Amino acid sequence: MEQPKPTRLIVGITGATGTIFGVRLLQMLHGSGVETHLVMSKWASRTLIHETTDSVQEVQALATKAYGVNDQGAAISSGSFVTVGMVIAPCSMRTLAAIAHGLGDNLIHRAADVILKERRKLVLVVREAPFNEIHLENMLKLARMGVVILPPVPAFYNNPQNLDDMINHITMRVIDQFDIHLDVMNRWDGVLLDQKRQRNESE
Ligand SMILES: Cc1cc2nc3c(=O)[nH]c(=O)nc-3n(C[C@H](O)[C@H](O)[C@H](O)COP(=O)(O)O)c2cc1C
Repeated sequence: MEQPKPTRLIVGITGATGTIFGVRLLQMLHGSGVETHLVMSKWASRTLIHETTDSVQEVQALATKAYGVNDQGAAISSGSFVTVGMVIAPCSMRTLAAIAHGLGDNLIHRAADVILKERRKLVLVVREAPFNEIHLENMLKLARMGVVILPPVPAFYNNPQNLDDMINHITMRVIDQFDIHLDVMNRWDGVLLDQKRQRNESE
């Protein structure tokens, strides 16, 4: 009899500012039943230490499995390892360029290349500001291949109270891309805040 297949998601974290997005994603998926397969670049590790109080080991412990960035023989290097796709959060311009040009010289680039050849879902939480033409052309090229370009741009309609709310909302929307819907934050329900206040006052 056929066994149910685990939902496996490949998670890359690269050296753009905002490593917290990759960390939060792992935290949200931890214990959710989704297998996370993590690869961090050298500069992701460096940025993590600069921007958060987490250690690389603590972040790796959040994942189901963690791989070395130069481990080209890892399971996620092959299309025969079935996954629902890959997210890179945050995604640096260097990694964006490597993926757009088909380079496979580290495990993040290789795993993303495999996702593209297998026509699976790739979500890039690209982070740079401002963008130059090379960045924009690389994004357009990949978007035309079906890659989701999802920069960590905050929403304000959900009335975030702090940075944590913003990070949670963006991360929830990244996870939504894989049809994994964790209702960790309020979603837009079509009702403006002042209307809600008025309703509450009249009740
Ligand atoms: C603190 C810090 C912040 C950085 N922020 C960004 C960024 O937002 N976007 C980006 O493309 N590169 C950023 N970089 C530069 C990348 O880390 C660098 O290009 C690196 O080679 C990326 O390699 P990777 O894609 O393998 O992680 C940052 C570097 C540091 C040290």
